[in-house]
Amino acid sequence: VLRAQPRLRLRLAHVVAPDTPKGLMATRLQALLAQRSEGAVVLDVYPNGSLYSDADELEALQWGAVELLIPSLSKFGRLGTAVFELFDLPFLFADRAAVRRVVEGEWARELFEPLQRHGLLGLGFLDNGFKHMSARTHPLREPRDYRGLRMRVQPSLTIAAQMRALGAYPVMMDFAATRHALARGVVDGTENPLTNFWSGRMHEVQRHLTLSAHGYLGYAVVANATFWAHLPQPERRLIEVALADAIAFGNAMALQQEQRALQALRDDGRIQLHYPSPEEREALRQAMAPADDALAARIGPRWVRAMRE
Ligand code: LMR
Repeated sequence: VLRAQPRLRLRLAHVVAPDTPKGLMATRLQALLAQRSEGAVVLDVYPNGSLYSDADELEALQWGAVELLIPSLSKFGRLGTAVFELFDLPFLFADRAAVRRVVEGEWARELFEPLQRHGLLGLGFLDNGFKHMSARTHPLREPRDYRGLRMRVQPSLTIAAQMRALGAYPVMMDFAATRHALARGVVDGTENPLTNFWSGRMHEVQRHLTLSAHGYLGYAVVANATFWAHLPQPERRLIEVALADAIAFGNAMALQQEQRALQALRDDGRIQLHYPSPEEREALRQAMAPADDALAARIGPRWVRAMRE
């Protein structure tokens, strides 16, 4: 039985399509909250940057203009919390199980702690997947193929350092603006997990996609801390449990949607897919290694060493 008046209304903005792991997780959370509260708790979801985009969503959360966000871990550097860039280190995680070991361990608490200073509360981690490199002009096989290319990156100094190490020019830009910038030739290429590449229709504006899996893209679910502190205990518990369920669902979807996106790209046929050999991946790994030193210089070598271990 749905009530006429919701008791609690939350807003969640995000920048990608509804059929991405994050989009699906958000609508699952919406459904779980509605069902389990019998309509008393309503979550409004704004996908595709329709309410806020990368540049302003964290600020909107701090003001309380939205209650929940799920930014990629690469976007927290804007707050001056560079530790999240550890996830951007190239060739860090062998697989998703390795990611789980980090986000379900002691690290989670340590990573979320600095967010409190910014009025934010970290509630959980969500996968998207591994990133692959694309370009319009030529296949990206060897490190020297990147030389001189303008590559769109998320606002992470570590990802920028990774591109510079390859001799490319990193261009930080909102996700929402990326497809257009690729279409206009403002940037030549980019890196993405397959779900974002496909749902963002980047295969229409890029010619070559190298399945490099050189980096990881995941998210943190964050809440406005004041909002959270004022929640009545039963609602807080309801949201916590629904969130854990929605995240588990989102992680399963991340795997499924990635396979779907790959199949869809193959069927579509417009983009040329390149499968790097182990030697090519090793050459890329070596060329990108300076990104570790750049981050270690900013946050201390201890963190980088511990993360690698
Ligand atoms: C990007 O900007 O490429 C991603 O962080 C977008 C997203 O939210 O998955």
